[in-house]
Amino acid sequence: MRRACELAERGRGSTSPNPSVGAVVALGSTTLGEGYHRVRGGAHAEVEALRDAAARGNDVRGATIYVTLEPCDHTGLTPPCSLAVVDAGVVRAVVGAHDPNPRTAGGGVARLRAAGVAVDVADDAWSQSLIEDFGRAVARERPYVRLKLAASLDGRVAPRPGERHWLTGIESREYVRELRAACDAVLVGAGTVRIDDPLLTVRPARARRRPYVRVVACERDPVPRDRAIFAPLEGYARTIVLAPAGARARFAELETVADIVFCGEGDRLDLALALAALRQRGIASVLCEGGPTLAQHLLEGGFVDRVDWIVAPALLGGPDAVAALAGGPGGVTLRFDRVERLGPDVLLSAVLAEPSGGTLV
Ligand SMILES: NC(=O)c1ccc[n+]([C@@H]2O[C@H](COP(=O)([O-])OP(=O)(O)OC[C@H]3O[C@@H](n4cnc5c(N)ncnc54)[C@H](OP(=O)(O)O)[C@@H]3O)[C@@H](O)[C@H]2O)c1
Ligand SMILES: [Zn+2]
Repeated sequence: MRRACELAERGRGSTSPNPSVGAVVALGSTTLGEGYHRVRGGAHAEVEALRDAAARGNDVRGATIYVTLEPCDHTGLTPPCSLAVVDAGVVRAVVGAHDPNPRTAGGGVARLRAAGVAVDVADDAWSQSLIEDFGRAVARERPYVRLKLAASLDGRVAPRPGERHWLTGIESREYVRELRAACDAVLVGAGTVRIDDPLLTVRPARARRRPYVRVVACERDPVPRDRAIFAPLEGYARTIVLAPAGARARFAELETVADIVFCGEGDRLDLALALAALRQRGIASVLCEGGPTLAQHLLEGGFVDRVDWIVAPALLGGPDAVAALAGGPGGVTLRFDRVERLGPDVLLSAVLAEPSGGTLV
C-alpha cells in the first residue's frame, strides 16, 4: 500500500477534479504491475496497473490488487474499474480508503465482493491524506481551501504595517512550494501583492498536465499591473483577479494582464461567490497564502478546510507589529493532526472541526 501511495503522489496536481490514486498488483511479495491515475480522463490507477502487468507478460489471475482508493463503479470518462478488476481474475483487493463521494461510496467494494473478490478496507492514513481535498470538495460548490500562514512565536507577520518581513527558513519555503504544486490554484490578498510582490510559482519548475493558476482577491482598489504575479509564464494560466462587481470601472485597467472575475453586487468582495466562481472554472483546491486580512475573512466565513501554521523562531513584538490574523470574531475550532520541524521552524497542521461554507450532501 505504501508503494501504491508513492505512485499516487506522482499524480497530485494533475488529476483534479479527480483524486490522485495509485495501485499495485502483486502475487505474494512479487509485484506484477503498478500504475497511477495520471490525468483526468486518462486510465484509472487500477487499469494502469493491470495494463502494466500485461505489458510485462505477467498473469494476474489469483493476484491481489492494492489500491489507495475504493475502485469506481460507475461509467464516467472511463468504464468502471470494479469490472476491470473482476474481469482480470484478481481474487483479493486491499483498499486504502473508501470513496468519499456519498453518491458512489461503497459501490465499488460491493461490486467486488458480489463477484467473489475478497476485499479488505485498510483505512490507511496516507491513502486518506491523498483524497482529503477531493473528499471535502466533492458535491460542494466551493473548492477545498488550505490556508498557509507563517508567523513569529508571538503571532506576528511583520514589525510594522506595509513592511515586508522574511520570517521562515528555506525548508519552510520548500514545503510551501510543494503545497503549491499539489493545489489547483494559489490565492493571496491584494495587500500581499502590493507589499510582498510574490511570484507564487512552483520552484524548481515542474511540468504539470494542468496549468498553474494564481489568484488575487481585491476589494477597494486594483493592485498595480506591474506586479510579478501578472507576468506571463509558461505553464501558468492568466492570473485571476477576484473583485466586487461594484468596482467594475476601477478594475478595467487590469483587463490586459489578468482575467477579472466580478463576484456579487456592491463594493464588498463576496468570498462565497468568489470561491464558487473558481470552482466553476474547474478549480477544486486552493492554497491561500495570506495575508492576515484575507485569511481572517476566509476563516470567519467558514471557508477553510485545513490550516498550515508555520511558527518561526522569532518574537516581533512591538505595538505596531502586524498580527497574523486581522482580528474579528473567533469561534473557530481546529484539530491538530500534524506537527513537524521544518528546519528552524515548526509546522502545525490542523483540520477545521466543522467544514462549512457550502452544502455537504
Ligand atoms: N507570514 C505570512 O504568511 C504572510 C503571508 C502573506 C502576507 N503577509 C504579510 O501581510 C501583510 C499584508 O497584510 P494584509 O492584511 O494587507 O494582506 P492581504 O490579506 O493579502 O490583503 C488585504 C486586502 O485584500 C483585499 N481583500 C480580499 N478579500 C477581502 C475580503 N473578503 N474582505 C476585505 N478585503 C479583502 C482587500 O483589498 P483592498 O485593499 O483593495 O480593499 C484588503 O485590503 C504584509 O506585511 C505581508 O508581508 C504575511
Ligand atoms: Zn476507476
